[in-house]
Amino acid sequence: MQNAKLTLGEQTFELPVLEGTEKELAVDISALRTKTGHITFDPGYGNTGSCKSEITFIDGERGILRYRGYDIEDLASQATFPEVCHLLIYDKLPNREERAVWRKRLTQHSFVHESMLNFFEHFPPTAHPMDVLSAMIAALPAFYPDENDIHLDIIRLLAKTKALVAIAYKKSLGEPIVYPKTDHSYTANFLRMMFASPAEPYVCSKTQEDALTLLLILHADHEQNCSTSTVRMVGSSHASVYASVSAGISALSGPLHGGANQEVLEMLEAIRQEGGATKKYIARAKDKNDPFKLMGFGHRVYKNFDPRAKLLKKSCDAVLAELHIDDPLLEIAKELEEAALKDSYFVERKLFPNVDFYSGILYRALGIPTNMFTVMFAMGRMPGWIAHWKEMRDNPQERIHRPRQLYVGNPQRPFPPIAERK
Ligand code: CMC
Repeated sequence: MQNAKLTLGEQTFELPVLEGTEKELAVDISALRTKTGHITFDPGYGNTGSCKSEITFIDGERGILRYRGYDIEDLASQATFPEVCHLLIYDKLPNREERAVWRKRLTQHSFVHESMLNFFEHFPPTAHPMDVLSAMIAALPAFYPDENDIHLDIIRLLAKTKALVAIAYKKSLGEPIVYPKTDHSYTANFLRMMFASPAEPYVCSKTQEDALTLLLILHADHEQNCSTSTVRMVGSSHASVYASVSAGISALSGPLHGGANQEVLEMLEAIRQEGGATKKYIARAKDKNDPFKLMGFGHRVYKNFDPRAKLLKKSCDAVLAELHIDDPLLEIAKELEEAALKDSYFVERKLFPNVDFYSGILYRALGIPTNMFTVMFAMGRMPGWIAHWKEMRDNPQERIHRPRQLYVGNPQRPFPPIAERK
């Protein structure tokens, strides 16, 4: 691979060019400042590769997403969520024996320390589930002190996230919590912990279990997005995996990231209440004087289609039909998508539905309340965050993340005497 040449004034510098597995190219500027005294300027990191990673490959132009080399379509149709967790974190689909052990450990560790349950009593009923989850995950190591066993930490995080989400829901309803059952799958257990009650035993259907599996798998990783980069950033200081993923949950909560799924549903609901005003919302999204954006549309990387949105749209039709649900919001979502995809504003900017556009319709069909959509995303993303944290910590070359900046503030100025400081 030929080096890149950078000319600054009279001088030309050679910079190595790196090539990834899928032939994507990167100019290695890691020695740029030492060699030239310059830094690069890339707000929002749109052109910056922050690391080498073996976990997930995305080709945004061709709408490709792969975990550890496997196409998302194959994983979505043939794998279980615990298998995908194992694949992402350990680069291996578990064999039959490993699968049984993995599944057993994920159930065993989904019980939460009883003293931790006291916490839930003190959150006000208005607390957003993302705030609760982030706080609870950050608190976990206090109840499970450091045993220096990263594999145990991994199991705990995957297993207890599911339990913490379900407990938060039960507590918000004032209902008793439901303990996991050892003979249930990860997804069936979660649905039972959410929806079983002493008055009404709960049996989830295969359709519901499969729909949840699909949602979790599609959210499981997405390379260096905002929350995953946050996890890597925090972890680069050698902060614990708990502290790092708790920060990831906070990053995910924003409406431009995972919080978009809740916003999409609220937007569709508002359109419905206004009698199907899709045109009005499209016009607002295009109006540069209006801060409104079409939620669930657009992506930094996908410029053709988001394969996850495609799979979810297909699944919405099937799941709603199988569960005999007639959700007017699905029709509104389809109308909105159709109108946007014909509009030159969206076409020119290559704005397509992203993962958050259709996921809410499925969560709703499963009975998940709207304010819990983003914690569902967090539950799905947990293995991805862990995989990236682990990959980084296993790499002896990894340094603390510490970007530079271009200072554009005041130049040095004399400090005013106290009489002048009013
Ligand atoms: N509605 C209207 N206009 C949009 C939208 C939208 N949803 N998304 C982007 N644009 C416009 C944007 O205003 C800009 O226009 P112009 O060139 O005239 O200034 C152009 O498209 C390029 O957008 P950008 O803001 O430079 O793109 P970005 O890569 O910085 O942001 C995004 C990506 C996902 C934050 C953004 O598209 C957005 O805010 N979408 C709505 C929120 C959303 O659905 N977020 C979920 C993302 S996918 C799941 C996840 O990562 O959590």
